[in-house]
Amino acid sequence: MDVQNKIVLTGVKPTGTVHIGNYVGAIKPAIALGREVIANGGHYVMFIADYHAVNYLKNPEEMQLFTRKLACTYLACGLDPNQMIFYRQSDVPEVFEMTTLLTNFTPKGFMNKAHAYKAAVDKNIAKGEPADAGINMGLYNYPILMAADILTYGSDYVPVGKDQVQHVEITADIAGAVNACYGKQVLKIPQAITQENAALLPGTDGRKMSKSYNNVIPLFDDAEVIRKAVMSIKTDSQDINAPKNPEDILLFQIARGFCQPELVKEIEEGLRKGGMGYGTIKKMLADAITAELAPLYEKYVDYMAHYDKVEEMLREGAKKARALARPVLDNFRATVLNLK
Ligand code: TRP
Repeated sequence: MDVQNKIVLTGVKPTGTVHIGNYVGAIKPAIALGREVIANGGHYVMFIADYHAVNYLKNPEEMQLFTRKLACTYLACGLDPNQMIFYRQSDVPEVFEMTTLLTNFTPKGFMNKAHAYKAAVDKNIAKGEPADAGINMGLYNYPILMAADILTYGSDYVPVGKDQVQHVEITADIAGAVNACYGKQVLKIPQAITQENAALLPGTDGRKMSKSYNNVIPLFDDAEVIRKAVMSIKTDSQDINAPKNPEDILLFQIARGFCQPELVKEIEEGLRKGGMGYGTIKKMLADAITAELAPLYEKYVDYMAHYDKVEEMLREGAKKARALARPVLDNFRATVLNLK
């Protein structure tokens, strides 16, 4: 991908627990990509999608706490707010004006097909309830708000997980509909980028790492808590000396996702030959995780303790974001309303 002078944008929803799976699969790659984009003269735009979260998070204290934790997490992991544009979605009113305009170019059928809405409908039907039971318009319109996030800044690329690709495709279609309507390029057509071999870290029980499964290794917590989570990784009862295929072993998959290549190789060989016990490997893994994360955790605690500074950074970020958004929105408004 050529990122020369490109606008690359991505959003994250505040969800409460950030785990090492998020760190390996999303946070680290986002920060690395951001550095590359900036070094190549582009903009890297990264925001906390708090208005998207209202959909499932209606407790204001939690909203505030989750947003806060997420901001401090990204900063602690190395996001540089002076170089990247880092803000809270709700601080940029242009996005919501854009949302209203975009609804008029969005076929309703697109929303019926969006997977989050469809999944909610399927669940209702499976339970024998009315199709739309408990579904609010925030969920239904979710992809339009996301399209506004993307299109308001003239984004070229949108790095997302595979589950979000459909939303970026819908965004491109909506932008295409606007451009077709006025016979010119009013909005830039964005493209999703996914990491092909994104390191997928399974949870401690082998299922997807997720708070709802209670199988996470937390990103920022005391070393003892992290160690305990690592110790709880499910293992089998094969003899310690039996040669094993590392690919079959959950502990190895998690270690491979997190650890440096030399350590991965050491564990791999130990398993293949036999003789390296699961307890030893768990200890190696816990040491590797805490060694990498301890300095970041310290920064995280410091940001959390001085949150007023973080708040200030987010507000500054929103100013930069609005400066990027304004001309795009003005041009769109002028086109739609024939303003001179
Ligand atoms: N929907 C994304 C998610 O659930 C978060 C998000 C909101 C986003 N707006 C965005 C991602 C714009 C990329 C671009 O993860």
